[in-house]
Amino acid sequence: MARKRSTRRTCLLICLTMTLLFLLGILVGWLIKPSEERITPPTQNIREELLSEMKAENIRHFLRDFTKIPHLAGTEQNLQLAKRIQKQWLDFGLDSAKLVHYDVLLSYPNSSDPNYISIIDEHGEEIYNTSLFEPPPMGYENFTDIVPPYNAFSAQGDPEGDLVYVNYGRTEDFFHLERNMKINCTGKIVIARYGKIFRGNKVKNAILSGAKGIILYSDPVDYCAPGVEPYPNGWNLPSGGVQRGNVLNLNGAGDPLTPGYPAKEFTYRYEADEGVGLPSIPVHPIGYRDAEEILKLMGGASPPSTWKGNLDVPYNIGPGFLQNVSTRKVRMHVHSNNEVTRIYDVIGTIRGAVEPDRYIILGGHRDSWVFGGIDPTTGAAVLQEITRSFGKKVKEGWRPRRTIIFASWDAEEFGLLGSTEWAEENAKILHERAVAYINSDSSLEGNYTLRVDCTPLMHRLVYNLTKEISSPDSGFEGKSLYESWREKDPSIENKAIPRINKLGSGSDFEAYFQRLGIASARARYTKNRKTDKYSSYPVYHTVYETFELVDRYYDPGFKRQLAVAQLRGSLVYELANAPVIPFNVQDYGDSLKSYAISIYSLAKKNKSQMETFGVSFDSLFSAIHNFTEASDGLHQRLEHLDRHNPLAVRIMNDQLMFAERAFIDPLGLPGRQFYRHVIFAPSSHNKYAGESFPGIYDTLFDIENKVDQYQAWEEVKRQISVATFTVQAAAETLQEVA
Ligand SMILES: *[C@@H]1O[C@H](CO)[C@@H](O)[C@H](O)[C@H]1NC(C)=O
Ligand SMILES: *[C@@H]1O[C@H](CO)[C@@H](O)[C@H](O)[C@H]1NC(C)=O
Ligand SMILES: *[C@@H]1O[C@H](CO)[C@@H](O)[C@H](O)[C@H]1NC(C)=O
Ligand SMILES: *[C@@H]1O[C@H](CO)[C@@H](O)[C@H](O)[C@H]1NC(C)=O
Ligand SMILES: *[C@@H]1O[C@H](CO)[C@@H](O)[C@H](O)[C@H]1NC(C)=O
Ligand SMILES: *[C@@H]1O[C@H](CO)[C@@H](O)[C@H](O)[C@H]1NC(C)=O
Ligand SMILES: *[C@@H]1O[C@H](CO)[C@@H](O)[C@H](O)[C@H]1NC(C)=O
Ligand SMILES: *[C@@H]1O[C@H](CO)[C@@H](O)[C@H](O)[C@H]1NC(C)=O
Ligand SMILES: *[C@@H]1O[C@H](CO)[C@@H](O)[C@H](O)[C@H]1NC(C)=O
Ligand SMILES: [Zn+2]
Repeated sequence: MARKRSTRRTCLLICLTMTLLFLLGILVGWLIKPSEERITPPTQNIREELLSEMKAENIRHFLRDFTKIPHLAGTEQNLQLAKRIQKQWLDFGLDSAKLVHYDVLLSYPNSSDPNYISIIDEHGEEIYNTSLFEPPPMGYENFTDIVPPYNAFSAQGDPEGDLVYVNYGRTEDFFHLERNMKINCTGKIVIARYGKIFRGNKVKNAILSGAKGIILYSDPVDYCAPGVEPYPNGWNLPSGGVQRGNVLNLNGAGDPLTPGYPAKEFTYRYEADEGVGLPSIPVHPIGYRDAEEILKLMGGASPPSTWKGNLDVPYNIGPGFLQNVSTRKVRMHVHSNNEVTRIYDVIGTIRGAVEPDRYIILGGHRDSWVFGGIDPTTGAAVLQEITRSFGKKVKEGWRPRRTIIFASWDAEEFGLLGSTEWAEENAKILHERAVAYINSDSSLEGNYTLRVDCTPLMHRLVYNLTKEISSPDSGFEGKSLYESWREKDPSIENKAIPRINKLGSGSDFEAYFQRLGIASARARYTKNRKTDKYSSYPVYHTVYETFELVDRYYDPGFKRQLAVAQLRGSLVYELANAPVIPFNVQDYGDSLKSYAISIYSLAKKNKSQMETFGVSFDSLFSAIHNFTEASDGLHQRLEHLDRHNPLAVRIMNDQLMFAERAFIDPLGLPGRQFYRHVIFAPSSHNKYAGESFPGIYDTLFDIENKVDQYQAWEEVKRQISVATFTVQAAAETLQEVA
């Protein structure tokens, strides 16, 4: 009995203590509850806090860390890096971070049957062989997993024959050869210098010319700056350095075996020889030491002066070698294999507090050819620092209005595969929910000034935000990024503002912008366009792209990469957080007008044909006028918008979000079904460059040489009508909802 009572008393005591502790908990909880301001602080302050949270030193640390070993797509090393990034993103405070895999076609050299090119004598003896690897930079001698220079997805084969030098291998270069010089490349091996255009376009042109193989080389005139030493004593390309790179002509298809669909386990795959964009001839890259040995033997026609590079050779065009060595030929050896291989994207999210079903995507690739010192890791390190800064704010209790998706893409170097497969898998959702895509590939290709390529919808946002970021340039202390940018690279049309370029392709925004019509932007530091004539940057895609290259020569102090991080980060912040999406549709109207004027003046070079065949641009100008009026109306409505009425705000935001989408033609451009944006596309002659009104442009290209002039101009009319319809339909989406 006594024991029972004492048990009951103990129970009572415990209950009382628990209740007291509970009440105390509530009291403490109430006292330390974050204030209203801490949950929804003024927008401006959070952006400033995010920007000041980003540190050059952290970007340097991430770059050091991510470039220690090679991260070729499809390798164990690149999977391990994906897992580390996933873990870091979760530690930073993201709501989720997942690995997503695809099984895509990649291409690797055969390590026991190396690729090279030889000069052979009349007996077929290989009397000169090009090098099998690049001399590794100091401190990197012991790596056994540096992939030797090769062109991914080259056909296999050992063709031999006479050479023809085709300059950059551009459309106009082949026109000059075939039309003016009457040189026939059929059955020949061609040699083209790298530079000016995407290497896949060179290969396509070589195939069309009938060539049975193509050698790509880096000429010092295109890959060495005057007065600069080769790496490691400077940042020029050493004579043994070779640019790697894929030579696909995918036209936006993604994985060559599963065009249009995600490369999952259940997906139907074409046979390897039916793949999209795979070249039908062997392709192999060499450095300028080897190129000189080959080019110095070239005979045949003398080159036009603009075809000469900086080697001590005559740059004769061929076909074939000089008379005293004319029995020598060239033999290619290419034995790389195409293999279906698993790749991994890392997808992280911060859930939006107000509009979780609206997405801002910040994505950049992780895979590199070798160490990826510049490409992509100056971008991946910046992505990591932006992610860390956003994560920190989330840990402090902040949340963006809209959802932010962070992506570390795989296999960009093999044809934008990781980003395109994810876009394909999520196309329906992205169509409905994506507001914007910001790319985070390499954050520099030079150290001179900012370079931005983006949709006209974001011009004004980019100008506004660069005014809020400090310039990293010497001589611009205390001034804004906008000011140094404007002074160093003014727009051609209006010197009072900095230049912004059209989006082409060559990086992971392609599927988002060109296929899905999601407003997109990319930003990086670049070289001086007036004085620096070399292509991309000298050691692009070589073993010499190391951490030290960036730390010593491109951005000691990492201030430029910090400025790029701040711009990419503040774009994401404003797009995710501004109550009204910060797009300007009027700027789109202005851009449409200037693109239409320029395509019209191109057509007018054949004024008499336009008259003969009754070709008019009037309807297109009318549609653009209507677009301009509709965009003026939309911005007027924005001024009077009741920002406290969530439904009214959402209606406007949907019109803004879908403005870019309205330019998508579901049927795609002629012959390029995955390039569906009617206003912009990668140029048909250079994937890297953007072309405006690409459908019309392509029908006008070289039209005077078309045999059937009537049919050719009918096609121009059809493309003008497609553009007119699309612009008019876009205008109607902007009008006040009836
Ligand atoms: C690589 O080359 C070796 C030697 O020629 C050959 O035996 C092997 O089958 C090749 N590997 C592949 C995957 O083609
Ligand atoms: C080139 O390589 C082939 C194959 O390895 C070899 O037989 C030949 O002797 C080499 N030629 C020279 C000049 O090194
Ligand atoms: C490479 O390996 C050699 C032999 O094991 C060693 O002496 C050298 O220090 C290593 N170099 C580097 C950069 O690690
Ligand atoms: C080029 O040569 C091939 C075969 O040698 C021939 O079939 C073709 O017609 C030639 N092209 C031109 C434009 O002469
Ligand atoms: C072939 O002739 C060129 C000059 O035309 C000369 O420079 C070269 O040394 C000669 N090569 C051989 C192998 O004789
Ligand atoms: C840019 O800044 C101006 C001036 O503050 C503002 O009126 C405008 O709405 C901003 N535009 C965008 C797109 O951010
Ligand atoms: C960086 O800027 C300086 C000064 O303009 C220039 O001399 C140097 O060559 C640049 N480095 C690179 C990698 O462009
Ligand atoms: C047609 O325009 C092109 C430039 O686009 C020009 O080179 C050509 O001479 C023009 N042809 C005629 C017949 O006007
Ligand atoms: C532009 O708007 C006007 C007035 O609504 C209309 O008459 C015209 O057909 C429109 N233009 C096009 C290309 O639809
Ligand atoms: Zn890249």
